[in-house]
Amino acid sequence: MAGIEQQLSRAYTPITIGPLTLRNRFIKSATNEGMSPDGVPSRQLVQFHAAMAAGGAGLTTVAYCAVSGDGCTLPNQIVMNRATLPHLRALTDAVHAEGGAVSAQITHGGCFIFVKPPGQGRPISASGGFNKIGLMSGQYLKREMSVADMQRVAADFAAAAELAREAGFDAVEIHMGHGYLLSQFISPLYNKRRDEYGGSLSNRMRFPRMVLRRVLDAVGEDLAVICKFSMTEGVRSGNRIEDGVAVARELAEEGAHLLVLSAGMNAESIKTMFGSSFPPENRAVVTNPIMKAAMFLQSLSEKPLEFRELYLLQYARKVREAVDVPLAYLGGVTSAQGVAQVMEEGFDTLAMGRVLIHDPNWVKRLGEGQIQRSGCTACNRCVTMMYTDGGTSCVLGQPGDAQLNRMPAAG
Ligand SMILES: Cc1cc2nc3c(=O)[nH]c(=O)nc-3n(C[C@H](O)[C@H](O)[C@H](O)COP(=O)(O)O)c2cc1C
Repeated sequence: MAGIEQQLSRAYTPITIGPLTLRNRFIKSATNEGMSPDGVPSRQLVQFHAAMAAGGAGLTTVAYCAVSGDGCTLPNQIVMNRATLPHLRALTDAVHAEGGAVSAQITHGGCFIFVKPPGQGRPISASGGFNKIGLMSGQYLKREMSVADMQRVAADFAAAAELAREAGFDAVEIHMGHGYLLSQFISPLYNKRRDEYGGSLSNRMRFPRMVLRRVLDAVGEDLAVICKFSMTEGVRSGNRIEDGVAVARELAEEGAHLLVLSAGMNAESIKTMFGSSFPPENRAVVTNPIMKAAMFLQSLSEKPLEFRELYLLQYARKVREAVDVPLAYLGGVTSAQGVAQVMEEGFDTLAMGRVLIHDPNWVKRLGEGQIQRSGCTACNRCVTMMYTDGGTSCVLGQPGDAQLNRMPAAG
């Protein structure tokens, strides 16, 4: 590798994505914070992201902002509406005061939902039929979306992006991975349609592209428009890396400003996403007996997966070879050597989740030469912390402040 120092210092140089210039190439990836009780962004959420900016990240991503009430996967999720606006403004102001930029991850859960909003019919998805995720919330059947539904949801994404701009965000990240609505269209596991929105990959991309186009038209001149997707789904009959490369080509062709290269599906292949096994006690947070039993049975047949630094690199390289659009490498960046390698291999930015939950000052400390690697053990216990009163935190450090997490961000 050409001098580690040289590649490492490149990570600390500015980069332009669409209309946005970041002070460096480090992106805090979206990690559901559990810091918006009853959907109200809390002061703890503001502090969490301000700390990421103060700790050196060029861009921090607010996770899991639903574009509409029916797009919520979990209770307590942020919904992009006018009631949320002042709280989001408090957050973006705090991040900007620390010299960072901030992105809103906008999402629709489709049939991947654990709550049943009152008065709502069947959850929507690419195709109808049995809804295995709905076992937790009693929503056993899902409904195939009509073209009118698609237009409504695409408009909701555009409206959410406009609200993000009004709230002071610098970017929006459209969530197209991990098994949520747009991923349900891209994935052959979920998309069984026989019309022009199903079948070939380019047909399955038609609705996600429609959403991207609407968002670009709405805010693309002012905000960076980022897409996060799963390069491989990590399941036998799901999308493989060849499909992931084709997805990247389609998104680049439509004009996305940056692609965040994730992998795996929440329900089917969580280990592919995280590159390491989940501890058995993570099952304790699931209260539904059917899901608990299903998780237990799954764990019996699963081989433990040992964490490897840059565990998605072999897939990301294939995407890098195929497209010119700016890319964010994601997955197991944990050391100076890893950062340097990602730069050396031609990625424009790097997105990081667990390492920055473990230590929000990691980017700064690495840049100052105080540390060479992270103390994160990839134990994945931070995922369980999402449901605690203080919100997502590293179990090796201090838990979040439950009191601050009950206080609305604004006022
Ligand atoms: C606690 C936790 C919550 C997460 N929530 C989200 C989320 O809301 N949206 C998302 O796209 N990815 C989510 N992820 C996945 C991360 O963004 C990232 O893809 C993953 O942690 C791999 O990156 P890493 O190796 O740098 O941690 C979450 C990860 C963690 C640890």
